[in-house]
Amino acid sequence: MNPIKSICCIGAGYVGGPTMAVIAQKNPQIKVTVVDINEQRIEAWNDEDLDKLPVYEPGLSEVIAEARGRNLFFSTEVNKAIEEAEMIFISVNTPTKTYGIGKGQAADLKFVELCARQIADVAKSDKIVVEKSTLPVRTAESIKRIFDATNGDVKFQILSNPEFLAEGTAIDDLHHADRILIGGDIETAEGNAAIEALVSVYESWIPRERIITTRVWSSELSKLTANAFLAQRISSINAVSALCEKTGADVDEVAHAIGKDSRIGSKFLKSSVGFGGSCFQKDILNLVYLCNHFGLPEVADYWEQVIILNDYQKHRFAKNIIDALFNTVSGKKISFLGWAFKKDTNDTRESAAIYVADELIQDKAQIHVYDPKVSAGQIKSDLLYLWTQRGLSPAEAEDLIDRSVTISSKPEEALSQSHAVAILTEWDEFKDYDWQGIYNNMLKPAFLFDGRNIINKEQLETIGFKVQSIGKG
Ligand code: UDX
Ligand code: ADP
Repeated sequence: MNPIKSICCIGAGYVGGPTMAVIAQKNPQIKVTVVDINEQRIEAWNDEDLDKLPVYEPGLSEVIAEARGRNLFFSTEVNKAIEEAEMIFISVNTPTKTYGIGKGQAADLKFVELCARQIADVAKSDKIVVEKSTLPVRTAESIKRIFDATNGDVKFQILSNPEFLAEGTAIDDLHHADRILIGGDIETAEGNAAIEALVSVYESWIPRERIITTRVWSSELSKLTANAFLAQRISSINAVSALCEKTGADVDEVAHAIGKDSRIGSKFLKSSVGFGGSCFQKDILNLVYLCNHFGLPEVADYWEQVIILNDYQKHRFAKNIIDALFNTVSGKKISFLGWAFKKDTNDTRESAAIYVADELIQDKAQIHVYDPKVSAGQIKSDLLYLWTQRGLSPAEAEDLIDRSVTISSKPEEALSQSHAVAILTEWDEFKDYDWQGIYNNMLKPAFLFDGRNIINKEQLETIGFKVQSIGKG
């Protein structure tokens, strides 16, 4: 097969945008067009001002500056890009279903299906279609059925190429990937040729020995399994954090001690207020759904416990705040430092902050939020979504937001005259704040709840703060 000259990616989100930017950067000979139906998003990707890119990722603007307009293009002309491309990545969102069969667990594949139908309708020449979105096992089979039923003249090869980048470190993860996984039809010559075509795209910067090729199903399942294992580690250390708080042990010391065992390893053992992000919960729920579907309820229950523990951790954090503040936060100002689901990203999907805020607001707290990268509009829409899903009317939800949430663009504003500070995201800047000044400006006793264990507890206690960290008795 001739080397690929033209790539299209459907979906210009957190995954599609950065991934295609790096593919274009490292393959100047390939024309890469990223398309999306969201005009605003495409406009933002095309903005002269690189601070306005729709996704915040360290290092991303440099990559965009290098490749955009040379061989990287962002467009809303989906059909044209599909027609032109030899290889099409599907990188659209696959949220958890909120209706019907599988509600609350199964992945909603309507966006993927729409893409597949559009590709089938528009394609006039043979295409390699690459699943980039995380999908349930055997989705490739369904996509193939759509292609075969709609467009008999054109040959389609379907590959699975899951993305393992983490937000906040996406560019580094893409530049120095631990591995690239490509699943395809390894039984046939055409399947192998398609796999090799994609291998050669990555080989521009990733050593061949780090590119793994497998059957499609193994590739699809590996992505779900990798995320389930990662999330499980966090839930495991968070489970231990609860025990640490009861026994006087220190969870960071325990994590350090066990992480020295090379079989366990030290990464992903940071106890926290709970994991968030668009992947972990969604992928585990999806795995749980699949296990139940295939008649494996014990396996489903095993994985579901990872989510149950994560919900417990968020709830425990909110409850600790209420308990410490004399059993009520009604009318009290609680300052939130951070809203993003982790540092170095403006993404808030499934962020623990949303759920902690919700519990405190149910207890009538006044929440004042500061996050260096998340917009006020995003914070409001997160709460609006949660409360309307739960049955409030949009007007009721907006009214509750107006009454209970204040968003500040300056940390001093959010912190002044506050009853308690809660750290929800581990932004580096929080460590260097003038904590003495903050203390002086707070109501006493001044409480601090560190949901990320980033501040020096002893130092802040010396200032006079009543500090509660995760997993420190
Ligand atoms: C994750 C996977 O890491 C990535 O490989 C996959 O492609 C997508 O899902 P992401 O969700 O972007 O990436 O971020 P990640 O760094 O994994 O963090 C997820 C959540 O876990 C965050 O809320 C983070 O704060 C939390 N976390 C992570 C912990 O609480 N403790 C840890 O030790 C690590
Ligand atoms: P992810 O984190 O997986 O990248 P995002 O929600 O950030 O998810 O991005 C997915 C993008 O896919 C969104 O910008 C959405 O508008 C786009 N999208 C969804 N369906 C289609 C479609 N049929 N055609 C083009 N773009 C689509």
